[in-house]
Amino acid sequence: MELHVPDHPLIDHKLTVLRDERTDSARFRLLTEELVYLLAYEATRGLRVSPKEITTPVGPTTGVEISGPRPVVVPILRAGLGMFEGMIRMIPTAEVGFLGMVRDEETLEASTYAERLPTDLTDRQVYVVDPMLATGGTLILAIDYLLARGAHDVTAICLVSAPEGVKALEERYDGIANVTVYTAALDEKLNEHGYIVPGLGDAGDRLYG
Ligand code: PRP
Repeated sequence: MELHVPDHPLIDHKLTVLRDERTDSARFRLLTEELVYLLAYEATRGLRVSPKEITTPVGPTTGVEISGPRPVVVPILRAGLGMFEGMIRMIPTAEVGFLGMVRDEETLEASTYAERLPTDLTDRQVYVVDPMLATGGTLILAIDYLLARGAHDVTAICLVSAPEGVKALEERYDGIANVTVYTAALDEKLNEHGYIVPGLGDAGDRLYG
C-alpha cells in the first residue's frame, strides 16, 4: 500500500478552514470540492493517456487524451458524495459506481446498505472517494468489493486519515493488491469513540446534517 500526503500550502490552508468548528455546511461543501481538485491533481498522475492529433487555429499538434478502459469513480455514501462532483469534473469521462456504507457507532464495524458498481472492473483505474479514513473498516470493505470485481489498481482519496486506518490497509493489502491512498492530512490518532483526532468531526453531518 502506498500512502501520499501531498505537501501544499493551499491544501493545508483549505483543510484548516474545513477543520474549524465554526465553518458552516455551505462553506464546508465548497472547501471539500476545492480540496478534491487539489488532491485529484496529485492522485491522477498515473491516469492512462494516449497521443491525440489536433489542429489549433495556428496549426497541427499532438496532445493527449484519456485512453484505455474508462476510469471509475466510486464515492462512499454518504460523506463521499461531497467529493464526487469535484472528482468527475476532473475526470469527465469516468464511469461512476456507488457504495453506501455506514459505520456502527458502538462497534465501529462498517456495513453496506447500497452497492451499484460496474460489474467488471478488470484493468480499470478505480478512484474511491471518502473524506475520512478512521479505523479503515469502511475503506477495506469498499476495496474488497472492487477487487472482487477484478480491479487491481485502486486509489483512495481522503481528506483526513488516522494512522490506525493506514496500518489496517497496509496489513490487508500489502503484497496482494495495488492500493494507493492520497490524503490531505495524516492525523494523530483515533479517540475512544473512533473519531479522528484532531480530525474535523463527522464529515457526513458537517456536509449534510
Ligand atoms: C464515516 C466516513 C467513512 C467512515 C470512516 O462515515 O465518511 O465512510 O466513517 O470510518 P472507518 O474508517 O472507521 O470505517 P459514516 O459511517 O459516519 O457514514 P456517513 O458518511 O453516512 O456519515
